[in-house]
Formats: sequence, C-alpha cells, structure tokens
Amino acid sequence: MTTAERFVGRDHELQRLKVLLDQAAGGRAATVVLGGEAGVGKSRLVAQFMARAEKDHQAHVLRGACIELGGGLIPYAPLVESLRLLVRDRGEKQIRAEVTDSAWDDLAHLVSDFTGTAAAAVPGAVPSGSGQLRVFGAVLRMLEHLGRSAPVVLVFEDMHWADQSTLDLVSFLARRLSSERALLVCSHRAELLPGHALRVLLAEPEFHRHVHPVALRTFSEDELADFIGELLPDTSAPPDRDLARRCHELSGGNAYFAEQLVLSGTLTGPQASRVPESINELMLTRIATLSEPARRVMQVAAAAARRLDDRLLEAVCGLPDDILDNALRDCRDQGMLVLDPIDQEAYTVQHALLSEAVYQQMGIGERRRLHTRMAEAMTADGRLGLAHDGGAAVELAHHWFRADRRAEALATAVRAGEATMRGRAFHEAESQFGRVLDVLWGQVTDAEQSAGHSREGLLSASAEASRWAGHLSRAVTRVQEAIDAVVLQGDSRRLGELYERLGSYHWETGATVESQAAYTEAVRLLEEAAPRGAAHARALVGLAMAEIRAGSYHAALGRAGRAVELAESIGDVGAEGRALNAAGLALALLGRAEEGEPRLRRAVTLADQADHVEDLLRAYGNLAVALELAGDLAGSVEEALTGLQRAQAFGLTDDRLALVLANNAGVSLMALGRWDEVAELLGRVMASRPRVEQSAYLRLTLAEFSVARGLDADAERLMGEVGDQRIADPRFVAALYACEADLHCWRQVPARALDAVHRGLAAVADTENVLVRLRLYSIGLRAAADRAALTSDGGAMGVDLIKAARRQAAAGAEIDEIPILLQLCQAEYCRALGKDSGPRWADVAKAWAQMGRPYQAAYAYWREAAARLAAGDRVAATEAATAAAETAARLGAKPLLSAVEDLALGPVREPDPPSATPVPVAVAVPQDPGLTKRQLEILRMLVSGGDTNRKIARKLGIQEATVATHVHRIFLNLGVQSRAAAVSKAFALGLFPDLTGSAPTGD
Ligand SMILES: Nc1ncnc2c1ncn2[C@@H]1O[C@H](COP(=O)(O)OP(=O)(O)OP(=O)(O)O)[C@@H](O)[C@H]1O
Ligand SMILES: [Mg+2]
Repeated sequence: MTTAERFVGRDHELQRLKVLLDQAAGGRAATVVLGGEAGVGKSRLVAQFMARAEKDHQAHVLRGACIELGGGLIPYAPLVESLRLLVRDRGEKQIRAEVTDSAWDDLAHLVSDFTGTAAAAVPGAVPSGSGQLRVFGAVLRMLEHLGRSAPVVLVFEDMHWADQSTLDLVSFLARRLSSERALLVCSHRAELLPGHALRVLLAEPEFHRHVHPVALRTFSEDELADFIGELLPDTSAPPDRDLARRCHELSGGNAYFAEQLVLSGTLTGPQASRVPESINELMLTRIATLSEPARRVMQVAAAAARRLDDRLLEAVCGLPDDILDNALRDCRDQGMLVLDPIDQEAYTVQHALLSEAVYQQMGIGERRRLHTRMAEAMTADGRLGLAHDGGAAVELAHHWFRADRRAEALATAVRAGEATMRGRAFHEAESQFGRVLDVLWGQVTDAEQSAGHSREGLLSASAEASRWAGHLSRAVTRVQEAIDAVVLQGDSRRLGELYERLGSYHWETGATVESQAAYTEAVRLLEEAAPRGAAHARALVGLAMAEIRAGSYHAALGRAGRAVELAESIGDVGAEGRALNAAGLALALLGRAEEGEPRLRRAVTLADQADHVEDLLRAYGNLAVALELAGDLAGSVEEALTGLQRAQAFGLTDDRLALVLANNAGVSLMALGRWDEVAELLGRVMASRPRVEQSAYLRLTLAEFSVARGLDADAERLMGEVGDQRIADPRFVAALYACEADLHCWRQVPARALDAVHRGLAAVADTENVLVRLRLYSIGLRAAADRAALTSDGGAMGVDLIKAARRQAAAGAEIDEIPILLQLCQAEYCRALGKDSGPRWADVAKAWAQMGRPYQAAYAYWREAAARLAAGDRVAATEAATAAAETAARLGAKPLLSAVEDLALGPVREPDPPSATPVPVAVAVPQDPGLTKRQLEILRMLVSGGDTNRKIARKLGIQEATVATHVHRIFLNLGVQSRAAAVSKAFALGLFPDLTGSAPTGD
C-alpha cells in the first residue's frame, strides 16, 4: 500500500465544510480558504469532502489545481482544469443545456483545445473590452446556472502557485458570490513568504471579510497512530504505541512525512537507526532506492510541469523502450508516479514535495539540458505540452528560459504573450512581454529577428497588456518608450497611432489634460498621413471626449461628426459607435437632446454589435444624461439602470463605468423626488467602498443628497474627498461649488455661500455649459437675498449675478430647465431687493412641479409662503407652506422642512379653521429680537413716528428697497405681519423705554 485507504480524523473540518455546503445549497454562497503546511493533508481532506458532497448532496464537484511553472505561469490553470473535468464528465452538449446564456461561450475558449469546438469564440488579436472581467462574470454565471440543478463545489488547489489571473478571479468570486448555490474552496500551503501574491491577497481586509478561513493542523499522536495503522501491512493489529510516538516525534504529525517514514521502512527496517531530518531528505532517500533509469524518469517528470504526456517522457528520456517501460513500472510501483486523473495518457508525480526534491537535487547543467530537450521535443510536436493553446506557448517559453537558450526563449515568450493576450490573461501577457523587453532583449544579438517584431511593436503590445491588467501608469511608460523609438524613424502615421494610445491611457487614469494633449498630437500626425484609418477616427473621438470634459461642446461636436464620417467610410463599426456617442453627448449638452438621443441609441446598438463592453456602458451613461437634459427623468433612470444591470451581468459591478451609471441613475432619481431609491442605490454601490478616483461623481451626488437631507457632516466629508480630484469637467466642478454654497445657505452663512459661487463661476468661466452656470447663479442670488436680509448690500451683490444670468439664459441652449432657472434667479433677485413676490415664487414652484421636480418645487413653495406672509396674505401663505412641508417631510428634506416650520404661521400642516377668527401666531418671540443696529434704528422710527419707507430712506440716506428689506426682516424676527403689530411688539418687549406710544400709521 502506498497511502492510507481509510480517511482518518478531521471531523471538525469536515463538519465545518458541510455546514457551509448546506448553506450554499440554500442559496448562500461562500468561499473557504484552507491553509496548512506542505503535506499536512489538505488535498486528502478536500477529496474526502468532495466525495461526500457528491454522495450526500448530489453536488456538482469541480476541481483544478494551480501549477508550479517558475516565473511563466499558466493563466487560469485551476479553472481550466476544472472546466476540462466538467467537459469530460458531462460532455459539452449537456453543459450548454444547463448553462444557457452566453457564459459558456465566454469560457469555452479557455478549453477550446480540449473540446475542439470553441475556436470561433476567440476574438481577434485585440481583446475586447474588459476581457478579464468578462471571464470572471462568466464563471459567476456558470455557477449560478449549474447551481439550479444541484449545489456546486468548486475547488482550486495549491493556490500558493496561483497565477495572477487566478488570484484575481478568486478575489472577485469571494466578493461577488452571494445567492448562487456554490461553495468555492481554495487550498494553499501556509508557508508563504512576505510579499507573496497570495499572502498579499489574504491580508486584504476586504478579501478577508468575505472568506471563511480553515487552518488544517497536523495530526495528534492518537490520530497519527490511527493513520499509520492504515499504512502498515497488518491493519488488523493496533499499531505499536512506541512506533506511533516515534513517528509523531519525527514527523511533527505531518501526514506526508509520516507516511513516507513508514513506507520507506525507515522506522521499522534495518536502517531504523538513521532517520532523516526533513521531508526533503526523506524524499531523496526514497529516490535513491530507484533504479538509474527510473530516477531519470522522475527527473524528467519533475522538470515538466505537473502533468507529463507519456510521449514527451519518451522523447526526453531517450531510453530504449523496454528500459523505459521497466523504469516507469518501477516508479509507479513505488507510488512515485501516478496516472493523471483527466488524461489517462499522462502521468503526474505523486506529490509535489517529491517533485520539488528531485528537481532541487539536479545540477544546473543537468537541468538546463533537460529543459532544452523538453523544449525541443515540444517544438517538434506541439501536442506534447500541457495544453495546446496559450498555455502551451507559456510552457514552451518557460523551458527555453530555464534552458538558458535566450534567442528561443525570447521568440517563444513573444508568442506566449500574444497567446495569453488572446486568452484575456492580461497579467500573464504583461509578464511575458516584460521578460522579453526587460530581460531577454539585451541578451540576444539580433533580438528583432528572433522576436519577429520590432521593439517598438512589442512595447506597444506590452502597453496594451498592462492597460488591461489595470496597470495604467506602466502602460503609459511603455507607450512613451515606443514613441521615443518611433520619433527617430520619422514615421508620422505610426507615431500618430501611438499618441492615440497614449491619449487613451491617460484618459483612463483621469489625466484629462495630458490626454487631450496626446490626442491633439495624434490627430495632427494622422491628418498628415494617408490613407486615414481607425486610429485616426479613434483619436478624433478621444479629442472630442476631452473637449466635452473641458466644456467645449461645439468643437467636440464638429470633431465627433468628422469621426463618424471617417469611421463609416472605413467600415469601422466600433469607432463609428464611439463617435456617435461623443456627438450625441455634445448635442445633448448643447440643448439639442432630441438630435443627440437617436445617435446615442445607435451607439448602444453598435457597441453591442462590436461586443465592446466599455463602449456599451459609456453609451448607456450618456443616453441617460441626454434624457435627463431633455427633461425625461424617468427615461433617464431607466436607461442608466439598464446599463448598470448589463455591467453587473459582466461582473463589472465595481468598475468605474458601473459607478458612473449608478450616478446617472441617482441624479435623475433625486430630481424626481424618488429619494428612497436614491438612498438604496447609492448606499448599495458605496457599500463595496469604491476608490475615490473611481467614484468622484457618485460621491458628489451623495454630498448633494446629504445637504438636502441635513446630513452636514457627511456632506462635508464627501466634498472633502472629491475636492482633491483633478477633474476639470464643468459639470463636476460647478456642481461641487454649488453643493458647498447650498450647504452654507442652509447654515445661514450667505457670505460663504457667495464666495463658493464666485469661485465656482471662475472655475467654469471658459466653458460652454450654460446650465451649470445658471445653477450657480441661482444659488448665488439666493445667498445674496439671504444676505440682503441681514445687511444692506445683498441687492447690490445680486445685480451682477442677475445680469449674467439673463445674458446666459438668452444666449443659452434650449434646455427646459434653463428658463425655469432664470425665473428662479429673478425671484431670488426680487427677494434680495426687498420686493419679494408670492406670485413669482408660485410660478417657479409650478414650473418645477410640472417638470416633475418636487424638491425644487417645494423650495419655491416655501419662498412663496414667506412672501405671502410678509404681504399679509395668511391663507395663501399657509397653503404654500403646507405644500412645501408635505413634500419636504415626504422626501426627508430636513433643512427645508425646518425652514418651513420656522415661518411664523403656526402648525402649517393643519388647514386654516373655517371661522373668521385670526389664527394665533404660534411663534414665541425672543426677548432679544436679534435685530441689527440699523434694523433697531428703523424700528425705532416706526415706533416714534410711523414713517413710511420712503421717509425712512430719506432720513437715513439709503435706498427705499433696502428699508423694505429691513422692515421685512424686522417683521420676521418679531413674528408679526404689520407695522402696527411691530410697534405693539416693540412696546411689549420694552425695546424703547424712552418712547411713549403714538398711533402708528397703516402700511
Ligand atoms: N485524513 C487523512 N486520512 C488518510 N490519509 C491522509 C489524511 N490526510 C493526509 N493523508 C495522506 O497523507 C499524504 C499527504 O496528504 P496531502 O497530499 O493531502 O497533503 P497536502 O496538504 O495536500 O500537501 P501539499 O501541500 O504538498 O499539497 C497523502 O498521501 C494523503 O493520502
Ligand atoms: Mg495538496
């Protein structure tokens, strides 16, 4: 016997896994991370659990292991292996019947060499957008589909050797799995060096929060006794206690060590006196028992990746058939080589520890020769490798590299880079290209010849790999190096193409200014070169988008139009869609949403056709913006949410574009007064704690929302977070200052609000965005009016603002919101002048209500109520205040609600009693009425002489309007409606003891 047949112990661990599987079966997916030292028994535990899951739960069990392959790793190794098993067990037809949507298409290319069917699913050399996330999303959906018939157990073994794509996949699955009936189990060796990629992942709090760690300990002495009892020839007799103790002492309870100690006879045989100190030493003792040819076989197997085709073995060993057969039999009898579970024509080394020991024992030259022969054999016959697609290229590159044959290593690494790129394993592609450019290039005499590509071409391919691997700054560096190389050649067309790429990488990092500069250069260069091509169209679109960000909509529109024509003429559907997207957005921002909308809809269709996820989501986002600007808020919400759903289907929940879509939906929902939905949506999205750079727009919306709900501290925090972002888009900048001003208004510090407005206006001065500027004017005028009530200069400050607002609105676009904003500005301005007008506010309120914007309407109703109250029309005031209070209460707009309640109306939500008796004023007047010196002076004049406003103005040498404002403020503060009442109140408060009452004149 080579290993224990009966499973020993581990009740606790199995129980824990069973509970999690039960929960998964009930729709609560989970991820388990199983760690333990090498050889402790992880694989055996997992195998036992899988067998039980299959038997007791009829679960689908899928298992794959990571492969140790030096620096060059096989992307998605465990996923690929598990998918192969799935195909082998069920046949592709059956899988397609279960996994009904496109998920399988997105995965099939990973196993295309195995199924032989899916080659068509591999797109061209350039990976389509967000390819890696597409694979992730597909795995998630596959689990969901398979889970419908039975719970799924997906096992990834040996994660300490995981390639970066697999680590990313696991990180993704751990976070994303929710109601799928699936359990993901990842095993790994506990001894991870600092800086090891898996160790880094395990230390991430966000990852840690989402996984269930299980630490597998070594066997206790009792368990070990049980265990070795299984291994000894006579299983009926209980094992010798001393033997068990000795074995435990030596092995530390490590299953593999103990097993090998027993099987080698070290404990019981004639050599019992000399015991090995480590597993490694023990392994070498075991290998020493093999015949020379058998040892050769083991060396070949160790130098190969874990699985080894028997034809490769034949080719590399170079032994005559009969000797090889004997050697193989020897290895298998000793339990050192076993048949591969998937491919019965391949072998694997029984245990990784064994393979490592064999490999380490070989001399450097011996290893080199072996790798050379491997590579030669695999080059001669491509079917000898582990896989026959991207993985095969990686494997070959690995052997040439280890063989120190640099020219071949370089050539094969280039091919491996290209193949992994096609397989959307961008991290691996990046590391292959990195090896080519940073290590091998300088070591090979005619590198270009070996690579079959220019250095510049490889630099740009490498940049693209880095971009998709999410390493944007590396992408920028690489493409800049490529630019430096091409500048010398003076090829303006190629240079233009590279600048176009540079523009796009900068764009992705949010460096708008750099992006615009690069695109400008690209357009200039490509205009010189004929014939025009796709890069030219892309550069035009890039530039147009940068111009939109900078608020130059006319220029953007012209440029996007040219891009549409160019893309059409060269039949580039992708570029055409992107160009339409830019043109549609520019039109919408210029107030021509009805022309923009069809273009954006077409952009959605084209992105779908071109299968370009990013373009698709961008088109949805812009369509939502266009509909919002057209006043179709409900439509805007719908399109944004559709886009968001599609993003989620691709597994792109955390992507920047998904956050943009969530924001688009949030903005329109907020305007519609569907604040519960806003809170739910934004709360859900923010729960995954997106990075600030990715979510600046969303955070700003949340800040606005917080201001409106009176959550000042939240609002301040959010504004602080996004304030550091280098975003020049006037839509963002203006909204940020408007939000700040709004907060100051509610806090009744109008001076600071005005300051924010002026800063905002300066920041967007050079842009064509009329809408955002008018929003700023309206808040500025609100602040000016608030200030007028406190001092006498508010009206003056409003003059500039109202003039500018009128000018802008007249010259501005045909956006429905603009005339209402102007009306709002006028109403605020009148208020600033002390000529507050109920009817004006009523018009504003009605206009907002008609547009379906209840919060803005409620604000205007509040102002209407105050104006009517000041004019003495209590009934109309109450009606308006009721409307305002109802909406504010329903929305949860606390600052507005308390402002309405502060009106001296009494409880505003109760209708006026039908009787003619006046409603008692329900506001307690403070002893100190809180009047300014000037106001007290005016009040004094009212009390002493009952002067009219004009008379007071003349006496004080100020504007009549200013007096009116003061009088209004006096009334408000005293809680009165008329001059007569003000005089009585002044007496009641004993404000002017030196004056005796005289009959006040009427108003
Ligand atoms: N609970 C058990 N019952 C019976 N045999 C076991 C048990 N645990 C481990 N073994 C045996 O001990 C040996 C080592 O176990 P295993 O291969 O599972 O270790 P591992 O932790 O996966 O090692 P590695 O880190 O190298 O992958 C195997 O031969 C296995 O069959
Ligand atoms: Mg194992």
